[in-house]
Amino acid sequence: MEISIIGSGYVGTTIAACFADVGHNVVNVDIDEEIVETLNSGNSPIHEPSLDERIEEHAGDRLRATTDYDAILDTDVTFLALSTPSTDDGHIDLSVMEAGAKSLGATLAEKDDYHLVVTKSTVVPTTTEEVIAPILEEHSGKTVGEDFDVGMNPEFLREGSAVDDFLDPDKVVLGSHTDRAAERLRGVFDPLLERAPDASLVETGIREAEMIKYANNAFLAAKISLVNDLANICKEYEVDTDEVLDAIGLDSRIGSEFLGAGVGWGGSCFPKDVAAIVAAARDVGYEPAMLDAAVEVNDNQPVRMLDILRDHADPDGARIAVLGLAFKPGTDDVRNSRAIPLIDALLDAGADVVGYDPVATENFRDKFPDLDYADSAESALDGADAALVVTDWDEFAALDDEFDAMADAVVVDGRNIVTRREGIVYESLV
Ligand code: UDX
Repeated sequence: MEISIIGSGYVGTTIAACFADVGHNVVNVDIDEEIVETLNSGNSPIHEPSLDERIEEHAGDRLRATTDYDAILDTDVTFLALSTPSTDDGHIDLSVMEAGAKSLGATLAEKDDYHLVVTKSTVVPTTTEEVIAPILEEHSGKTVGEDFDVGMNPEFLREGSAVDDFLDPDKVVLGSHTDRAAERLRGVFDPLLERAPDASLVETGIREAEMIKYANNAFLAAKISLVNDLANICKEYEVDTDEVLDAIGLDSRIGSEFLGAGVGWGGSCFPKDVAAIVAAARDVGYEPAMLDAAVEVNDNQPVRMLDILRDHADPDGARIAVLGLAFKPGTDDVRNSRAIPLIDALLDAGADVVGYDPVATENFRDKFPDLDYADSAESALDGADAALVVTDWDEFAALDDEFDAMADAVVVDGRNIVTRREGIVYESLV
């Protein structure tokens, strides 16, 4: 099929390369000329394992990029993969989506045959029908359900495994309202579903598809917060948290994934998506108590970490090494990293903080330009009064003699990964 994708950000670029990989002809439309050039020269504008190879293989052949919306005219379906950032009150900011929909609508005015527009971005229920479709109608002069259709196809990609998650998904969710739209969407995903026979196909309505994305992420975030709540109780009763979590994970109704207790969830999705669905719930007069609590537990984990530190060392004037600045291992992304509230609290308490991360230091420097940064865990620990482990990078699990260089070897482990040894005062957060 001929597919156009508006937006060459994280999701847009990944799905463009993957759609090309399963055999479609793909054109990526973006207003950023630099990104367009990067893609057309066969390079990836984002860092994601095995994405470079796929872009290199298909660029100039089944994959191309352009700033010209007219490229959409030769395609059967357009995916809107534009950003929906958070506003201060947690709602999603639709201005980029709206601008994209306007340009797309104006282009569709020139299109002679039927077209399908699919929302790929994460949007709260009813956005596609009540915001996107009317803009498309207004700017194209056409009628939804007659001249064109809208649909919704949420994305469940994780950073660091986005290509694998796309090509080998647990499920593909297709939201549409007409048989024609459903058939065309299925046509897009048929080659993928042939390659991934274990994937479940979920065909549903548009607002259901929108909600599935939020329900998925909110459930996972709340699962981690519930685990952290239980782990905090374990800690107070001196119960071995890992043994408890391993055991409950054996119950197939609970499952063993996303039971990693610690300093909590961050990243570009969980915090934003939970905030957005909470805000959307309040808009219609519903107070989502479980999700409120999930956020509260998450906000409280860094505070607990500091309290545990205080049991062993006064942060005021102390040299504190923070190990791990990325929001999770395997990425240089620091958005909503738990290191941010933790370091804010340490600085407020008068600590002299040194940060270290194997790959995310430069991104973190943008947020905390005046912080002291070390180029290895060993040098961060050198002379430190305490160390706080925030991200579960493998190299922190392997730390050993490096702790000997600390002035006072207090280690508070926010991810339960450091190997306990003689000579350090070790406390896990959970
Ligand atoms: C997440 C979803 O998994 C993905 O489906 C969605 O499309 C985007 O959001 P991502 O943000 O890349 O993906 O990271 P993920 O691996 O899910 O981790 C999110 C956060 O939860 C990280 O801060 C991680 O450290 C934390 N986490 C994860 C835990 O604290 N414990 C766990 O057991 C798992």
